[in-house]
Amino acid sequence: MTAPDDRSPLRIEAALKVTGAVRYAAEAVVEGVLHAALVVAPIASGRILGIDDRQAHAIAGVVEILSHENAPRIAREGVLIPLQAPIVHFAGQVVAIVVAETPAQARRGAAAVEVSYEELPAVTAIGQAVDPPFAPRTAGRTATDSQRGDPERALRDAEAMLERRYTTSTNNHLPIEPHTVIAAWQGNALTVHTTSQAIFAHRLAIAESFGLAVERVRVVSKYLGGGFGTKGGAWLPCLILGVMTARQVGRPVKLELTREQMFTLVGRRQETVQQLTLGATRDGRLTAILHDTVAQTSTYGDYADPIATPTRVLYACANVATTHRLVRVNAPQPNPMRAPGEGPGSFALESALDELAHELAIDPLELRLRNYADHDQHAGRPWSSNGLRECYHVAARSFGWEKRPREIGALHDGRHRLGWGMASACYPVYRMASEAAVRIAPDGGVLVRCGTQDMGTGTYTVLAQLAATILGVPLGRVAVELGDTTLPEGPYSGGSMATASFTPAVEDAARKLRRRLAELAVGDPDSPLHGLAADRVTLDDGYLRSENRSEILADLIARAAPAGIEAAASAAPDETPRHSSYGYGTIFAEVRVDPDLGEIRVTRLTAAYAAGRILNPLLARSQFIGGLVGGIGMALHEDTVMDERLGRIVNDNLADYLIPVHADMPRFDIHLVDEDDPHLGGGVKGIGMLGTVGTAAAIANAVFHATGRRIRDLPIRLEDCLLPD
Ligand code: MOS
Repeated sequence: MTAPDDRSPLRIEAALKVTGAVRYAAEAVVEGVLHAALVVAPIASGRILGIDDRQAHAIAGVVEILSHENAPRIAREGVLIPLQAPIVHFAGQVVAIVVAETPAQARRGAAAVEVSYEELPAVTAIGQAVDPPFAPRTAGRTATDSQRGDPERALRDAEAMLERRYTTSTNNHLPIEPHTVIAAWQGNALTVHTTSQAIFAHRLAIAESFGLAVERVRVVSKYLGGGFGTKGGAWLPCLILGVMTARQVGRPVKLELTREQMFTLVGRRQETVQQLTLGATRDGRLTAILHDTVAQTSTYGDYADPIATPTRVLYACANVATTHRLVRVNAPQPNPMRAPGEGPGSFALESALDELAHELAIDPLELRLRNYADHDQHAGRPWSSNGLRECYHVAARSFGWEKRPREIGALHDGRHRLGWGMASACYPVYRMASEAAVRIAPDGGVLVRCGTQDMGTGTYTVLAQLAATILGVPLGRVAVELGDTTLPEGPYSGGSMATASFTPAVEDAARKLRRRLAELAVGDPDSPLHGLAADRVTLDDGYLRSENRSEILADLIARAAPAGIEAAASAAPDETPRHSSYGYGTIFAEVRVDPDLGEIRVTRLTAAYAAGRILNPLLARSQFIGGLVGGIGMALHEDTVMDERLGRIVNDNLADYLIPVHADMPRFDIHLVDEDDPHLGGGVKGIGMLGTVGTAAAIANAVFHATGRRIRDLPIRLEDCLLPD
């Protein structure tokens, strides 16, 4: 187990953020910038008949108005670039953009644009679809369907069987920092300050869209106020719109989304309907699992979360089949949102297991232990490491699970009911290629350069820690540059893969630099280390040392390499891994339910996670808490509500879209189970998504334990828990 310790420095940029010295994308100072405001469609489906922009043009300060009638043509497959055709696919879609000298003038101009529409019939809910659900090409990065064994036959022979339907709602990401682009063209080159979880992917997409070589596009994203998946591909259409508009007006343009627009223009967690069927022996061994999922997509794009991924791997079972299907709805395009797929999918799987445990009168934890998977039956490979069993034991002990009464509604706190529930979690290890460079200056200061992003989770800090540890310099001597495509190419901040991807590259670069410093010292007649073996030289605390001799690192560099030294490296994931790699966790939840008011409070969340090597336990704990809070939101609060008559989102603001706030926070008890994974370069698995997996089920299972109400539709509402006397 790992507790916060000296591996846990605070965020190195914390003081800058607290004092307001940090500049977010919207605060980049660009000379002569114009401001853009969007005109959006009020209807869910239809054709634009005409755009009357005469009044808007008459408003002081309005410089340009773009619509499908005059916007440049840009095509990207599967992406709805705004202003390309007079067709409305969903309410909130951009139909015009007004550019003016000030933000107020732009907004006034946007309000004055008159758009006439021919309204067409709209499908505004999954249940309204006329066409049958269709199979997407993939489910996230995984296969659309899977099958092993013969689940149908196993179900016929099963001693116990359970067939259930679960649903999860549409959610929106809503990071505190709204999406922004400031695009500035310099002739045929371009600088873009933006909110990006993937600066290199955004650079490539912009270059392709405008017919530029990638070197002519620079994307800068130094600090992010959260991302959760919405600042990647989902942001691309509006990002391109900002760049297009700047090109059209021949001046820099700034486009900032409003909170309301963040509900429609930058993705969402798709709504799901999931059918889960379990077969088991009477003593609780799983013999069959069927998991069939249907989810919402837009009328123009296909996106399917990997909802059934946990079902394929989490438990030992010889007969498993899973499917992913989509339904087209006149609604915004879904995209990955924190624990995309695994979050909603684990709600169904982990709820169903709890139901099975109850029916078979087996403790829910015992049921999971009996079905522990000792290898990946889906891929037919051994685990690279798997600390799930230790997670069960560590979290159960800390929570006090052995004291859980089996009967429903047996725990009380005054007039409130208490309930205890649990769930398992897993999330695949994704990684991508990464480059990094580490440089040391004559004053001994170290600079790490890696073109990844920091969403606020601590990327600056762990990049500095990695170099400081290998070079033996204090953390305070390490500076970090990230978030700029002029840097060595770094990984996306998404899919839990940033740290897992850049760690081997940064460590390799730092080791190369250490080696060169040692060689420099032993080869320099003026160094006290001259003539010693380079591979025996160690670096610590700003000194090079070997055999009772030492030299101050800064002295060596100032004398022998006055320009400083830089080493670069790159790392790529194993293309043909012989092992399956997942991060694991288990969550134990306590809820308190008011029987008269139905109010549900999560009072305790105890979780244990095994996710490879943890670079900074304090930041890791914080990120797991963030993931768990996302799970609380999924369980009890978050629901993007569509008015099915109008096809418009009813609660597109943070007053009506409920999220967990401080008053909703339980006591968090987080345990980090060390895993030394020899099969992953750098040993890091990634932790961003894992905290959101399983959490909603643990809470729903606790609600059942408290009330006897089995809630299969998220979010759980007060009225679900009103208990008769
Ligand atoms: Mo994520 S949902 O890959 O930020």
